[in-house]
Amino acid sequence: MEYREAYEKLEEYGQLHVLKYYDELSGYEKEALLKQIEETDLAVLKQAGNKTELHPRGKITPIEVMRLPAIEARREEYTKIGLDAVKTGKVGAVLLAGGMGTRLGSDAPKGVYNIGLTKDVFIFQRLIENLMDVVRAADAWVPLYVMTSDKNHEATTAFFKEKNYFGYDPEYVTFFRQDMAPASDYDGRVYMEEKYKMATSPNGNGGWFLSMMKWGIVDKIKAAGVEWLNVFAVDNVLQRIADPCFVGAVIAAGSAAGAKVVKKNAPDEKVGAMCLEDGRPSIVEYYEMTEELMNAKDAAGEPAYDFGVILNYLFREKDLEEIAAKKLPLHIVEKKIPYLDENGMPVNPESPNGYKFEQLVLDMIHELDSCLPYEVVRNREFAPIKNKTGIDSVESARALCRENGIEL
Ligand code: UTP
Repeated sequence: MEYREAYEKLEEYGQLHVLKYYDELSGYEKEALLKQIEETDLAVLKQAGNKTELHPRGKITPIEVMRLPAIEARREEYTKIGLDAVKTGKVGAVLLAGGMGTRLGSDAPKGVYNIGLTKDVFIFQRLIENLMDVVRAADAWVPLYVMTSDKNHEATTAFFKEKNYFGYDPEYVTFFRQDMAPASDYDGRVYMEEKYKMATSPNGNGGWFLSMMKWGIVDKIKAAGVEWLNVFAVDNVLQRIADPCFVGAVIAAGSAAGAKVVKKNAPDEKVGAMCLEDGRPSIVEYYEMTEELMNAKDAAGEPAYDFGVILNYLFREKDLEEIAAKKLPLHIVEKKIPYLDENGMPVNPESPNGYKFEQLVLDMIHELDSCLPYEVVRNREFAPIKNKTGIDSVESARALCRENGIEL
């Protein structure tokens, strides 16, 4: 992009301060800044002012969950259907690893974190080991697509290489970068991270399919005949991936998608709960849970919003193309954003100082006609690592690994 065009784009969004240091930049830095201005979606910054009006919710009602006894009763049948789908290459897996993992407090990608005590057990390694169970059962590799971000792409790909992909066939592993979104102060004025660089952060875990399209991966998926994509988070070290019984249950139910859910351990647990919103599948976030919703009972007299999502969804590829054509809601999150002050000096704030703009995978569910909430045994499949200690931490995940016979 030429300087003139960059100037006009910034002017349109009220962000001309981005060029404040332009004249003192080197040729290389000038080029980098112009490229970033060209590639960054500045329109999101306009949303900073209407933060509270962005998500009017529809009418929330309970959704029927496929519970453990119902799954057990048909486990063999579902597993066969799912294994057939895996064997015939119809199931791919998408690892969402573009997050910053700020709560864990390490600069390295989260998957590189070592939870081992007497030996190395990296988070990425745990995920690959879990996926290998399915590869062995189906006698077929599951194509794995790993989403990184500009902030961790090199470190992630180098780590997989160094560790020989933990025994996975590299032919079946594809890395792609998610898009970045600008980060701004509370008035929607983008922060500068360097004199030649706007502050940006990964644009949330909901942009994965658009990014896959952008990098040409969707074309390859279609050419390979992959029909289902199992999307999952990096931080659950007990995550079951391309789980044949889950895949089979979704196919047998004729559902457009599936979401693994666990019974919540308290009405106010910090997980999103599956529900219907205006009759369509949806997820009510923990911070949206009113007293009324927490106390609501379903037709059987049980708590109505008692099943939380664990960021493990199965999507049908062809539906994703339709969703991609729509605009997902934008979530505006208060965060600590390092920036240059008025004098061009770097500041590392100790408390939140602005907004990051994110799209979330859970909003994709609401775009679908149906989604099967599929219960899994909590202590066997849900060990998220968000923090170093306490709830959802390295400590709690280690305890759950031990409970499941995983040596650390
Ligand atoms: P979290 O919401 O826990 O965010 O991500 P995070 O960035 O990993 O951690 P904090 O909040 O900074 O501590 C849930 C999943 O979504 C992925 C993460 O990598 C994780 O698998 N994610 C999140 C992305 O892939 N991209 C994003 O922009 C955000």
